Amino acid sequence: MKFMMKLLISVIAILVIILLGLWIAMTPAMVLILTGIIPYVVFVIFLIGFAYRIIIWGRAPVPFRIPTTCGQEKSFPWIKANPLENPAGLPGVIGRMAGELFLFRSLFRNTDVKIIGGRPIYGSAKWLWFFGLMFHWSLLIIVLRHLRFFTEPIIPWIGALSAVDGFFEISVPALYLSDVAILAGLTFLFSRRVVTPQVRYISLFTDYFALLLIAGVVVTGLLMRHFFPVDLNALKTLTMSWITFAPVVPEDIGVLFSMHLCFVLTLIAWLPFSKLAHAGGIFMSPTHNMANNNRSLRHVNPWNAPVKLHTYTEYEDEFRDKMKAVGLPVEKE
Ligand code: HEM
Repeated sequence: MKFMMKLLISVIAILVIILLGLWIAMTPAMVLILTGIIPYVVFVIFLIGFAYRIIIWGRAPVPFRIPTTCGQEKSFPWIKANPLENPAGLPGVIGRMAGELFLFRSLFRNTDVKIIGGRPIYGSAKWLWFFGLMFHWSLLIIVLRHLRFFTEPIIPWIGALSAVDGFFEISVPALYLSDVAILAGLTFLFSRRVVTPQVRYISLFTDYFALLLIAGVVVTGLLMRHFFPVDLNALKTLTMSWITFAPVVPEDIGVLFSMHLCFVLTLIAWLPFSKLAHAGGIFMSPTHNMANNNRSLRHVNPWNAPVKLHTYTEYEDEFRDKMKAVGLPVEKE
């Protein structure tokens, strides 16, 4: 599919969700379904979908130890090993995984190649790392901040997180740094897929859709917070009623909240089946979660077919006379 086509279909899909949100907000029966039924359906889809993905990943055969290594393996005591880049045991694996999860360690190594004067010249390329990290951290902070809607009284550290996030107190209500950061991250990640020809070539519909969907969530959220305020008390009643399994359906939810919810619920339901499932998949990645103990332990593929071995000793026992006759050396006379 051509690039413009993929982009167009993604934009149309987003417009459909916007119109859906608009229509639901104007139809009381649909408000009931959106706020009283769909959240539970989506939650079940999410749980079953993720469980299904994990089972599929868990059943994938991994007959070899295949950790990616980027440093000296544990060896003789006088050779300096690199326990993080080439972990020999669980602590190293945990350390390396933490670096990957919280700092995107391997993306930091990203390089760029340019052909200059007919020769490939490699340089460092940190922008993807920078904006990628910025996007993921801010998304996490936003989701954590949203826990204020789902806890009563609000857990103190969520309040503290919001206070730090809104530290600069720009505008009323305070503009959150994470909101600015996620917009910057999304803008970079999206532009990269549109502007860079190589990345554009390999981008799929889902790549554009995922970014636009999250952008939809963020923009509607920001519009609610800064331009068209919603009744947060009524909203909190709704969210608390969800988790106590006694949904209190509001009469009017407002167009923006309806859209925000449509985007969020689409995102949550689609997540396990999309590339965004990497949020869980990273933990199941054998190149990350295995220790490199290939030399210190013998690993035998558990489903190797039983092979009738013919050892050298047996071979020599069988052919000793013939070997000696032609003058070949033998180990046992
Ligand atoms: C993937 C999940 C979600 C994301 C990424 C997200 C994102 C955002 C963002 C970026 C904002 C702008 C202000 C801020 O950062 O707090 C926002 C605001 C808001 N969101 Fe969400 N949201 C999510 C889920 C939800 C859910 C499940 C609800 C409630 C049912 C919700 C209700 C709201 C409300 C009411 C606001 C306005 C807050 C205010 O006025 O202070 N969001 N959201």
